[in-house]
Amino acid sequence: MTDVYKVDAAFAARAGIDKAEYQRQYQASVDDPDAFWGEVANRIDWYRKPTQIRDVSYALEDFRIRWYGDGELNASVNCLDRHLATRADKTALVWEADDPATPAKHVSYRELHQRVCKLANALRALGVQKGDRVTIYLPMIVEAAVAMLACARIGAIHSVVFGGFSPTSIADRVSDCASKLIITADEGVRGGRKVPLKANVDAALKLPGTTTVETVLVVRHTGGAVDMQMPRDRWYDAVVDAQPETCEPERMNAEDPLFILYTSGSTGKPKGVLHTTGGYLVYASYTHEVVFDLKDSDIYWCTADVGWVTGHTYIVYGPLANGATAVMFEGVPNYPDVSRFWDVVDKHKVTIFYTAPTAIRALMREGDAPVKKASRASLRLLGTVGEPINPEAWRWYHDVVGDSRLPIVDTWWQTETGGALISPLPGATDLKPGSATLPLPGVQPALVDANGTRLEGAVDGNLVLLDSWPGQMRTVYGDHQRFIDTYFKTYPGTYFTGDGCRRDADGYYWITGRVDDVINVSGHRIGTAEVESALVSHPKVAEAAVVGFPHDIKGQGIYAYVTLIAGEQESDELLKELVQHVRKEIGPIASPDFLQWAPGLPKTRSGKIMRRILRKIAENAPDQLGDTSTLADPSVVDSLVKHRRIG
Ligand code: WT7
Repeated sequence: MTDVYKVDAAFAARAGIDKAEYQRQYQASVDDPDAFWGEVANRIDWYRKPTQIRDVSYALEDFRIRWYGDGELNASVNCLDRHLATRADKTALVWEADDPATPAKHVSYRELHQRVCKLANALRALGVQKGDRVTIYLPMIVEAAVAMLACARIGAIHSVVFGGFSPTSIADRVSDCASKLIITADEGVRGGRKVPLKANVDAALKLPGTTTVETVLVVRHTGGAVDMQMPRDRWYDAVVDAQPETCEPERMNAEDPLFILYTSGSTGKPKGVLHTTGGYLVYASYTHEVVFDLKDSDIYWCTADVGWVTGHTYIVYGPLANGATAVMFEGVPNYPDVSRFWDVVDKHKVTIFYTAPTAIRALMREGDAPVKKASRASLRLLGTVGEPINPEAWRWYHDVVGDSRLPIVDTWWQTETGGALISPLPGATDLKPGSATLPLPGVQPALVDANGTRLEGAVDGNLVLLDSWPGQMRTVYGDHQRFIDTYFKTYPGTYFTGDGCRRDADGYYWITGRVDDVINVSGHRIGTAEVESALVSHPKVAEAAVVGFPHDIKGQGIYAYVTLIAGEQESDELLKELVQHVRKEIGPIASPDFLQWAPGLPKTRSGKIMRRILRKIAENAPDQLGDTSTLADPSVVDSLVKHRRIG
């Protein structure tokens, strides 16, 4: 029997949405989605209010997803200009540096507006036009938000690439969308260590497919030495400083693209998830308010990086569209020590704190003292995102970080969904540790079996969504067919999430993890195919197979089986070299945690690798391999089992 944490009466009394209101809104949203989402759209400013609300068909022969199709707006105006009359001096962003000795910065809405306008003017002066793609490869500094909003202001489509990605990964993403300009910094700093961002961009631009890049804008952040290649490379300050402080925004159609964000899938290269302007902004702003029960006085801190969708929706677009104060943190949870998160909470009087289960598990291991040292009295709400949270970590978060007094919102969503879909509303939803609980208004989850048959009641299945919501992605950039094939073909008539899920007798959803070939490492999505192709790009590797395995801190770790080219010698040095090779090809987040030599891989007679078997070996469950008789050579399994990772 799982325990239930009832809605706190005092919290509910102050909350925007209580239980009855949630039920009313949910019912209304399902009964008449047009009326519901038409009303929600009024929360943002439109040049032209939409009269067409939703135009959606998941049917393959008549496929379309359009929201607010005749509406016109500008996202940066919604995040900046419209607040100037009422809260120009309110802090929009609080920047906290990696090094606690570096003074924090408070950027007001007025200042942020000016900085965005100046960069937007500079981008225009550099020839960036509506619809052009701009790659942003920055650390967690204010300029990252400025860059995104400046693109939005002039209708350029931003593609933020996480600062931990390698030159090869940058080049893939730049070339896929034919980026015209890159905004980067000399270096980033995380946990006291420098990250050579500009040097990575230089290396990326030597790779094929990147000749579309005309300009690289370089923010001087650490002051570290960089090579400037003129006229391509320009110092950010030099081009921005002289620009006017106002900038005429581009009038965008609701369905004009706002951004591309690359994410891993089960096959091939990362896909460019495309979000459009109107639906995304409405959804980001609506969910940010209801999920976090946002008040004007809140100091809201999401610890994600802007390189991921969480940073896009719940650091930049949602909070700024809502006129909130958001903390932007450059550092990591364990630098200079493991009290850092709680020190920052106290320093900036954070009221809402939103982080990932992997961070909670890592900090839990350090004991309660580093948490208890800080007061945390300002906090009123906690949140998690990125992967399933194990009940033990949930309880520690609740009891120790939250002093058993704060609700936790466990928000389930994806890069593709634009914002949270299944999540508690803190004033409305009783909580169960480990469950993302119930769908938000307007969201219709369902569970299906492998044949696509709808499953009712308390049951385990594959999680699909029966209908659209405004924040849904619209296409895979440059490959609309891949979009349809990936998400709408598996279970026709529905959007397939790629997640497995259980529903309990109370209708609560429990995400069980990916059911496709995607691994969730510390809340970051890694495609097994990507790691495999990085491994086989090494001259000594003939073949590789990669699976996930349970990992105490990361949630899942990366387990790689490698077959060498005939004649090559297995050695510990080569093993290390291969791990390094993957880091270099993709980035540190894709480093295999364990690499095992595989004289052969378990394959069917038609040559298909049986991943089910590899997963069981990686999980150290050799007694659960199931039927191996259909393998071309069943004996390879014995050897793999013998040399598996144990513990
Ligand atoms: C995948 C999406 C959403 C922003 C961060 C990750 C897993 C995400 C939860 C949660 C259980 C979760 C799912 C999903 N996931 N949040 N609260 N509980 N699982 O975005 O990189 O697109 O990954 O993360 O497996 O499909 P993403």
